[in-house]
Amino acid sequence: MPNERAAGYVTDVGYSFGYHAELNPRVAHLAFLRAGLAPPRIARACELGFGQGVSLAIHAAAGNARWWGCDLLPAHVHHARALDAAAGSGSTLIEASFAGFAARDDLPPFDFIGLHGVLSWVSADNRAHIAAFLRDRLAPGGIVYSSHNTLAGWADLLPLRRLMTAHAAAGDAGDTVARIEAALAFTARLIDVNPLALRTLPGVAGRFERLRRADRRYLAHEYFNRDWEPFAFGDVADLFASAGLHHACAARLRDQLDGLNLTDGQRHLLADVADPVLRETVRDLLTGAPVRRDYWTRQAAPLAGPALAAAWRDTRLALVVPGDEAPERVSGPLGDLDLAGPVHRAVLGALADRQPRTLGELQSGSGGTCADLPTLAAAAYELAAVGSLAPAQDDATIAACTERSQRLNAVLSARLAGGDDPGVRASPVTGGGLAVRPPPN
Ligand SMILES: C[S@@+](CC[C@H](N)C(=O)[O-])C[C@H]1O[C@@H](n2cnc3c(N)ncnc32)[C@H](O)[C@@H]1O
Repeated sequence: MPNERAAGYVTDVGYSFGYHAELNPRVAHLAFLRAGLAPPRIARACELGFGQGVSLAIHAAAGNARWWGCDLLPAHVHHARALDAAAGSGSTLIEASFAGFAARDDLPPFDFIGLHGVLSWVSADNRAHIAAFLRDRLAPGGIVYSSHNTLAGWADLLPLRRLMTAHAAAGDAGDTVARIEAALAFTARLIDVNPLALRTLPGVAGRFERLRRADRRYLAHEYFNRDWEPFAFGDVADLFASAGLHHACAARLRDQLDGLNLTDGQRHLLADVADPVLRETVRDLLTGAPVRRDYWTRQAAPLAGPALAAAWRDTRLALVVPGDEAPERVSGPLGDLDLAGPVHRAVLGALADRQPRTLGELQSGSGGTCADLPTLAAAAYELAAVGSLAPAQDDATIAACTERSQRLNAVLSARLAGGDDPGVRASPVTGGGLAVRPPPN
């Protein structure tokens, strides 16, 4: 169970091997353009609380930014360093608490600082250390990526989560996993006897059932830390404001597509809310999404008119699924997205040879779409948001990142085979991770 140095964080079970695309600077670039913000050039990047280091190792191998990072758990740092060393990326990965990392005097200013799955799972003191790090180490114009659990998405599960951690803490034997098993078994018994407190929360039993089947390492870090706090958006905005940051845009590309996520009535309501923090608070209630993934910025300049058009024209994209598997229609929680229109089809057709192209080339080159730039950019963004396309690097960067990516992928395939495979491999084309298919049975 948690020790004091870790400030309540679980230390006797390693985390699972997840990959998070929002930590890819190229994804941030696309999200910023869609939001009408000038994306910075990202040469130095940093990940706080990198866990097993899968995302960091992929972005360091496949992209052209140099990476730094820290994590508290020696086993995490060991694993992340092994991945990074196998690729030959030369990242600087430090075993340190956030406070210890912030106190170092050998770190450069960073253009990008990411933290996934951290904010809601650490103490208030640690959140303050993180905010101080962002305040001191983010370069002017830099981007922060952070995710957190939302109050709107987790309110119904709060009492059960408290019960489970109380049960685990009161247990008299066993390591964290044994205590988790006992807490899950007890909670299942509680639900079976139909407690009145849960009758007004009809979704809770189903959520508990899904949770009960999850990887125990994930459960240990997700639910059984001393700290687990779903936030109202304003709480997180206040924290980042203390680092001089404000909200830039949603980091998950499809979260910027309101047609998928909101009804017309909800969009009208949202449009009437002038205050940006209040607007995102309302959005959390409208979507009920349990997790938010956001980019934050100190001073990103708005991008509009010819400058925005030029940035879109330079944006390079690649097809990352077999062309005939790109979906023609995608459903979101509250709406559908039609991807079968002539512009979408022309973009997919023009990229079918797997050669990345800029929107400028797509607009004007042979096989060009003839669509006006805003229409083309909107279609391309939608195809990227649903995973058919991904932002691509230039040819020189692809060439520079190919061998590192191959070396990392060999290790990911060999060492993470089976349950620990994150299901992605480094792509020098996109600078990030691409899903791999499970081998046929
Ligand atoms: C829920 S895990 C997320 C890991 C990784 N970012 C991911 O999403 O796969 C949180 C991570 O933060 C690290 N962590 C927790 N408290 C920390 C602290 N005070 N200082 C540094 N790292 C910490 C943990 O070791 C763990 O790797």
